[in-house]
Amino acid sequence: MELANRVQTLTPSSTLAITAKAKELRQAGHDVIGLGAGEPDFNTPEHILEAASKAMYEGFTKYTPAGGTIELKQAIQKKMQQDQGLDYDLDQIIVTIGAKHALYTLFQVLLNKGDEVIVPAPYWVSYPEQIKLAEGKPVFVDAQEENEFKLTPEQLENAITEKTKAVIINSPSNPTGVMYEKEELEALGEVCLKHNILIVSDEIYEKLTYTATEHVSVAELSPTLKEQTVIINGVSKSHSMTGWRIGYAVGNKQLIKAMSNLASHSTSNPTSIAQVAAEAAYSGSQKPVADMREAFSERLEKLYEWLVAIPGIECVKPKGAFYLFPNVKKAVEMNGFDTVDEWVTALLEEEKVALVPGSGFGAPNNVRLSYAISLEQLEEAANRIKRFVENHQ
Ligand SMILES: Cc1ncc(COP(=O)(O)O)c(C=O)c1O
Repeated sequence: MELANRVQTLTPSSTLAITAKAKELRQAGHDVIGLGAGEPDFNTPEHILEAASKAMYEGFTKYTPAGGTIELKQAIQKKMQQDQGLDYDLDQIIVTIGAKHALYTLFQVLLNKGDEVIVPAPYWVSYPEQIKLAEGKPVFVDAQEENEFKLTPEQLENAITEKTKAVIINSPSNPTGVMYEKEELEALGEVCLKHNILIVSDEIYEKLTYTATEHVSVAELSPTLKEQTVIINGVSKSHSMTGWRIGYAVGNKQLIKAMSNLASHSTSNPTSIAQVAAEAAYSGSQKPVADMREAFSERLEKLYEWLVAIPGIECVKPKGAFYLFPNVKKAVEMNGFDTVDEWVTALLEEEKVALVPGSGFGAPNNVRLSYAISLEQLEEAANRIKRFVENHQ
């Protein structure tokens, strides 16, 4: 079968190989601890389930407007006012099938062949693929570990060409968990305004932050920056609703209209009852979000301490999301392996701990660990990693 050119270079997710191997070992009866999860391990809060169930039994099971129900858009509008102090008209909001679909649709309507999007590395694995699917070109800029993996204004300035259309800012970040401070965003925003570059601000981990550094959206910093920014967000991570598939984008009217038109011919509306669930998530009690954040915060503190106590493992301390992204280069060398990928495979085979190699995120010296599993399992995983590193010294 001759497939289209656009999918010829599409690479499978970097987590796939290790997940498949972990599954194989589990099926063979081994006690594998998976640290690859990209979703909270909590149940969707009760009041959200009830709202969806009620909607379903009341017959809210038909098409809705392609860009989302008015009610959910109003709930998002209110959330943006309350949390970010930002006012958006309803026609500046589109509800999508998860944040991933918001990003996909955005790149489809934004990019022409050869248009460049600046992607700070380490990056979330889907950005480059989505940009390429829209015939754009991802331009990677290595955000330095010494600078907590944050893009600097100088790096941004140097990466800009006349083809640059947008830059992605993901704070808190997957995979590093780091967050930009207000002043850093101001400086980056200034460069974007100077060169008229759209800021794609992926704020999906907004609610999962664990330090005094508050989440700030670049769009909050000035009216001109608001104009220059598309915010991507959703309920997947904040309300433990990954399977419901509700995300959104807010920004320029023309852009949102084009995205809605595209959705109307490709996916139609996001699932009707999932939209009611998301509405309940935003308008109901936020206590479950706070409880989840507290549990993640405790896990982060403990896992971070356990990890950095292991010889050869160094880690920028995350401030948000639910990942650690340690540099294991020294451990890999000390243990006699050539690459991080080989080290990760041996760790899985010998100690039955599954990590995700950083190569897929554009950072080959690192690994990603998710702490979306219980504290007990995290402690056991840390003990096993320690034993592995010591056994190979
Ligand atoms: C940085 C980032 N953006 C977007 C998404 C997509 O979220 P959703 O599940 O709502 O599509 C993810 C999910 O892992 C993510 O890590």
